[in-house]
Amino acid sequence: MAPPRASSSSAAAALSLMLLLAAVAGTTTVDGGRRKPAQAPAAGGEEEEEEARRGAGVRYATEEGAHVKAAPPRRAPPAPAPAASPDQFRGQARLPRFAAPRRYDLRLRPDLVACTFTGSAAVTVAVSAPTRFLVLNAADLSVDRTSIRFRDLVPNDVVFFADDEILVLEFAKELPLGEGVLSMNFNGTLNDQMRGFYRSKYQYKGKTNNMAVTQFESVDARRCFPCWDEPAFKAKFKLTLEVPSELVALSNMPVAMKTVNGPMKTVQYGESPLMSTYLVAIVVGSFDYIESVTAEGTRVRVYTQVGKSNQGKFALDVGVKSLHLYKDYFGTPYPLPKLDMVAIPDFAAGAMENYGLVTFREVALLFDELSSSESSKQNVAITVAHELAHQWFGNLVTMEWWTHLWLNEDAGFWFILLTVSLFPQVEIHHASEVDEIFDAISYDKGASVIRMLQNYLGAERFQFALSFFPTFQKALASYIRKYAYSNARTEDLWAVLEEKSGEPVKNLMTTWTKQQGYPVINAKLKGTYLEIEQAQFLLDGSSGPGMWIVPITLAAYLSVMQNVTSSNRSGYNDLLKVYRESAEAEEKTRVLGTLCYCKDKNIVLESLNFLFSNEVRNQDAYYVLQGLGVDTRDTAWIWLKGNWDRISKKFGDTQVTGFIRYVVTLFSSNEKAAEFSRFFSTRKKPTFERTLKQSLETVRINARWIQCIRSEPRLAQMVRDLLQNP
Ligand code: BES
Ligand code: ZN
Repeated sequence: MAPPRASSSSAAAALSLMLLLAAVAGTTTVDGGRRKPAQAPAAGGEEEEEEARRGAGVRYATEEGAHVKAAPPRRAPPAPAPAASPDQFRGQARLPRFAAPRRYDLRLRPDLVACTFTGSAAVTVAVSAPTRFLVLNAADLSVDRTSIRFRDLVPNDVVFFADDEILVLEFAKELPLGEGVLSMNFNGTLNDQMRGFYRSKYQYKGKTNNMAVTQFESVDARRCFPCWDEPAFKAKFKLTLEVPSELVALSNMPVAMKTVNGPMKTVQYGESPLMSTYLVAIVVGSFDYIESVTAEGTRVRVYTQVGKSNQGKFALDVGVKSLHLYKDYFGTPYPLPKLDMVAIPDFAAGAMENYGLVTFREVALLFDELSSSESSKQNVAITVAHELAHQWFGNLVTMEWWTHLWLNEDAGFWFILLTVSLFPQVEIHHASEVDEIFDAISYDKGASVIRMLQNYLGAERFQFALSFFPTFQKALASYIRKYAYSNARTEDLWAVLEEKSGEPVKNLMTTWTKQQGYPVINAKLKGTYLEIEQAQFLLDGSSGPGMWIVPITLAAYLSVMQNVTSSNRSGYNDLLKVYRESAEAEEKTRVLGTLCYCKDKNIVLESLNFLFSNEVRNQDAYYVLQGLGVDTRDTAWIWLKGNWDRISKKFGDTQVTGFIRYVVTLFSSNEKAAEFSRFFSTRKKPTFERTLKQSLETVRINARWIQCIRSEPRLAQMVRDLLQNP
């Protein structure tokens, strides 16, 4: 086996010696980022020389950048031909595309006492263009060079470029096109850096033990096994672990087969669906668990330290509810047969959404009814909801490259998704906390931008996500279906949203995601015109030339309406003036959409009565109704009841359905549903019977959610507090 890797403080001399030893032992030491990359190897293509190399030895990168050869070539190599040299793959942002993994068969054997691991990989690789090379990622691994085979071919050169963390396998002849298996053995250390395959420590029966854990996002799967470590190289994974019999060993998929052989057991897991390397996960240690099953039959478990499984109850509950919710929201079932959530004592981030095996810092998963604080409960709910949303948005549909990560990681976005459905009467003001990758500004900005988009595409109805299937959610669901098991770019999401909404989402969003800072908008009503100015706001106080496409539909008019009261109705009068004097139908509907967006009941009544005037076309009535909110629902219902005959007469059967839907679905109690049933029982018409039924169903669904929340009253309060004081 290869000697242990030198620590980062190793002297160059020691390192060179180690490499030499590795060469003699027939291994390539793939050591993260300390050595200079290898220089170009001797020219390939000459049969004789290649033959000599194949039989005699391998070239290794050294500290000086030269190749050490166990057996030098018989004659000096000619100048390297760049096109045929491993060197051509250096300094590239991404791996070449001519070969791609389809399936990884991985076998790993961690030694929890020595803190090392050995492994073997058999990767089915599809070669799609003529090449003599296979290029994949590896770091901090010792690869046994003599074990490498592709089909039945042995590489005639294996070069590791440390800076690029790539392993280049050079073969004598062009590789056959199509699929073949690449196999190799390797070993590494269970490190203490909380990335790659690492060890975490825990107390068990009075002793300190090690557990083996993985954390691969963003680019650390390559520290556990050689792989195409980019999110777009999705493949199926089949893992086998050899671990001490008494330990719990978890991976992304459920156990398919277990063989116990005395103190050791071999655990084989089911084959995963297509997924990215950064989502592969392994946990080996002593754990207790509690479990539950979703209505759809997915087994959900929370793993905790032995004796602490009670502390996992809250996360389990949130997890089961979230899975159920997201299945409806994304219009796609949870893609795996099980979901495990595991508390890890040493964990770099807050949590990691590994497919089917989500890992958490203990404080982000465990909640102790007796001793934990309210804020920690809130943190658990948010973190579980966030990571489980990733199981669809991130894991099932994965960003094509890391530059598209902002959308994945926009925590505020996920929080919005959960809360709008879990807490239907709560207005959303929250942009969540910071993730390591992005600073606070990007995170908060991401959340705000998504919120703006929701508003633009129909935020009012977004509140009733589960029953209304508004534009935004419908588009998200179709995006998930379209790109499931594959990858997408941010633009792909905009394109789907654009297609479904008919709005210029791409242009609009590009101005927000590709420019630094925010615009500062100044809006003034000047007669019948709304005068709007924009300037670029940058945190450092400077101002820039940036220009944004700003949807003013709600942004400006809504801010006017929010300040209107019966005693201060000048903004309202101004908007009515804009409505009356504007020649554009679109502008008129824009104003109508804001008239009920006001907390003052008298103003809302006035806006509703405005529908009876000849100034509003019947066809446009629903714009006004869309502005109704939870605060004004009682006013709206009293108005609807009191004016039912008049409404039925003026608006005709088709229009009336909108009145029912927009008013009735604002409620969320079974008593109210019964009241509506009673009221409409004598007024039924076949034309709106279906709408009525659906609306009542929505009220009852909302009521069920409220009951869930009431059974967790502190959570509801916490979320309210959070939303009010972001
Ligand atoms: N995928 C991230 C964690 C991550 C990102 C790990 C980049 C390594 C590199 C995860 O989904 C996440 O965002 N976690 C947050 C918690 C969440 C509630 C915002 C975290 O770890 O803080
Ligand atoms: Zn995340």
